Amino acid sequence: MNAADVFARFHKPLQRPLSMATCYDATFASIMDEAGIDVLLVGDSLANTMLGFARTADIGMPEMLHHTKAVRRGAPESCIVADFPFGADTTPELAASNAVLLAQAGADAVKLEGCLPQQVRSIREKGIQVVGHLGLLPQTATSLKQTGRTPEEQARILSEAKAMEEAGCCAIVLEHIPSALGAQATDLLSIPTVGIGAGNGCAGQVLVMHDLLGLGPRQPPFAKRYVNLREQALAALRSYHADVSSRLFPTT
Ligand code: KIV
Repeated sequence: MNAADVFARFHKPLQRPLSMATCYDATFASIMDEAGIDVLLVGDSLANTMLGFARTADIGMPEMLHHTKAVRRGAPESCIVADFPFGADTTPELAASNAVLLAQAGADAVKLEGCLPQQVRSIREKGIQVVGHLGLLPQTATSLKQTGRTPEEQARILSEAKAMEEAGCCAIVLEHIPSALGAQATDLLSIPTVGIGAGNGCAGQVLVMHDLLGLGPRQPPFAKRYVNLREQALAALRSYHADVSSRLFPTT
């Protein structure tokens, strides 16, 4: 699938905003596909959500490849974007060779954090689509606070977004910035923006699966929890434990 064609459908004028959610395994990939989620992101948030690490920088290419393959197996027809883990895109050459590995694992596009136009060009030369990620950058951030509040930060984020577009990105994720800046970036660019805590002026929205399904113990202020699966799973597992302990299950 050509990820650029998928993203291009959601550029101005908006028919409807694009929906993206992080996804890490085959089971949830098939559910997301059935739910009609436009793009599945194998985010490096995998480190925290699924693998129990403290920082996204604690995982590398082996984990990202393993989970990208699983998501592809679960959703053969979906548009899948895979994150570069920390350190996998430090030079244009390294970024290009790792992008090839992620594409071979099943990604339709790769996503990298920060303003790295040379890396984008080098990945595009391999024929692979690239999604940028600006604003709050979890791989290197020292705090998870909103960014882009000062005029200097705003000007920097807008010029980085333009540079990433010119280098060949097909979309840009904007994380935890003021809504007005998200809308400004969306107006400035001719590729779609996908916001996570960047307001409803973006061309699309992305949420971490654990936040939207209520699987994690806590969630960022901008996330919306649509269900509390953690509570539901806990109740089901307690019932199972009680049934087994009291010989109510199995019945024969
Ligand atoms: O890894 C991730 O979950 C992400 C989202 C925050 C967009 O990059």
